[in-house]
Amino acid sequence: MFGRIKSLDAILATAEKKSLHRSLGAFQLTMLGVGGIIGTGIFVLTAEAAQKAGPGMMWSFVIAGFVCAVAALCYSELASMVPVSGSAYTYTYAVMGELLAWMVGWALILEYAVAASAVSVGWSGYFVGLMRDYLGITIPATLANGPYAGGVVNLPAFFIALLVTGLLMIGTKESARFNAILVVIKVAALTLFIIATIGIINTDNFTPLTPNGWGTIGVGGAAASIFFAYVGFDAVSTAAEETKNPQRNVPIGLIGSLVICTVFYLLVAAGAIGTIGAQPVTGLGGEVLSPGSPELAQRCAAIVASGVTEPLACSKEALAHVLKTIGWNKLGAVIGLAAGLALPSVVLMMLFGQTRIFFVMARDGLLPEKLATVHPKWKTPYIVTAITGAVVAVGAAFFPVGKLADVSNSGTLFAFLMVAIAVLIMRRTDPGRNRPFRTPVVWLVAPLAIVGTVALYFLLPIDAMLVLPIWGAIGLVVYFAYSRRNSHVGRGLVEVHEDDPDAPPQPVPPMPGAPTPGGIQA
Ligand code: ALA
Repeated sequence: MFGRIKSLDAILATAEKKSLHRSLGAFQLTMLGVGGIIGTGIFVLTAEAAQKAGPGMMWSFVIAGFVCAVAALCYSELASMVPVSGSAYTYTYAVMGELLAWMVGWALILEYAVAASAVSVGWSGYFVGLMRDYLGITIPATLANGPYAGGVVNLPAFFIALLVTGLLMIGTKESARFNAILVVIKVAALTLFIIATIGIINTDNFTPLTPNGWGTIGVGGAAASIFFAYVGFDAVSTAAEETKNPQRNVPIGLIGSLVICTVFYLLVAAGAIGTIGAQPVTGLGGEVLSPGSPELAQRCAAIVASGVTEPLACSKEALAHVLKTIGWNKLGAVIGLAAGLALPSVVLMMLFGQTRIFFVMARDGLLPEKLATVHPKWKTPYIVTAITGAVVAVGAAFFPVGKLADVSNSGTLFAFLMVAIAVLIMRRTDPGRNRPFRTPVVWLVAPLAIVGTVALYFLLPIDAMLVLPIWGAIGLVVYFAYSRRNSHVGRGLVEVHEDDPDAPPQPVPPMPGAPTPGGIQA
């Protein structure tokens, strides 16, 4: 298992030969992180967290944020030592060998592709609200929900995923300035939400704090799901190759963006709970209903039909709904508009991340390089982008946002676990290597990350938990049937990629939000 290790020096030589212009500073990296992090998690999944944890979701945000923080500290050490693209996959290749690296890359595909579906579904909820608020158009529920919620197909989610795929295929690049604008829109929307709600918080709404307890159906389960709200900070480490002084700036970008988002999330959650309450919706017999289930959808429909205000846990546009409920109709519509504008960029980021990981794996020979063929005119990996986009769109059309987020989380948690283990192994096997950023008290922080990721994984719903081993088993079959034989490391073809005739001619499309190699634009 540990046999085929990719030499760290070879990886670093690749990085040094790279012609990508290093132009991102700490501020841009932090913005990139915030841009990747804030999305469906806070704008939509707050409702699902309420359904599980009630007001105790404040704790869920803290727990999930804490696990991400310790994982980010581990990420930072590896990202500063190995400032190349590929993130967890590359680190694992250097430390724990090809098989585990393959498994991590395979899990990252799950993370990014399924997350793209989840964010598409999240966007759909806001889009339906926007059509109603701004144009007076009601999209029939059967065409805006999958079968899980009594609908047939979620068409808005399907089409946004296809649209973003099309943009990625023809090579639309978000400029740094465009990303900065979207980050400002998201942060401004959350700030307005906090200002509108924080002054009128009623502390009675926080009781009972944990109606479903602390376990899988309560605070713990909500933490495992809301973990999705923090996913995306690892995008910072994948931009390490385009970063000035990555040794200093990558850790700042990772931890800075995480801290900023955690503060926002806690304030937003407090505002939502404190104003309209966040108690879970129960069945007629008082039973706990799980988010994304037909039972909950029916119960919510019945509550709304009876004329009672829709509970937070039922809303598909949670933050806009809170504001409308407390009388800020216009502001609610504005927040909806902000989400509608900004969420597609998170879909783009996730789809892009997927193709990037795919590329690095194909570059190493673990996946067929033909699939990663670059289009002569568009200069993008159009085949893999199209295949991924189609799968993402179908997933978005038929599955609920919470289930997709949970499945994505299972892949992410696995990748984070591997990174935490890799840091510890590196400290033992290569203690002398230059570590521009050292994880503080690593023998405490990394084990905490290990325990935290494993615990959150086991707090996921059973179906999401099972997807990881099933996906992993498929991955093992692919590895032994194809990748092992074709691996460049295995065939002794190591390793500076710029000399590799199979390498894509263009660096993969630049990170959304990253400047083009020509220079920074904002
Ligand atoms: N953290 C990102 C979101 O919440 C994936 O949408």
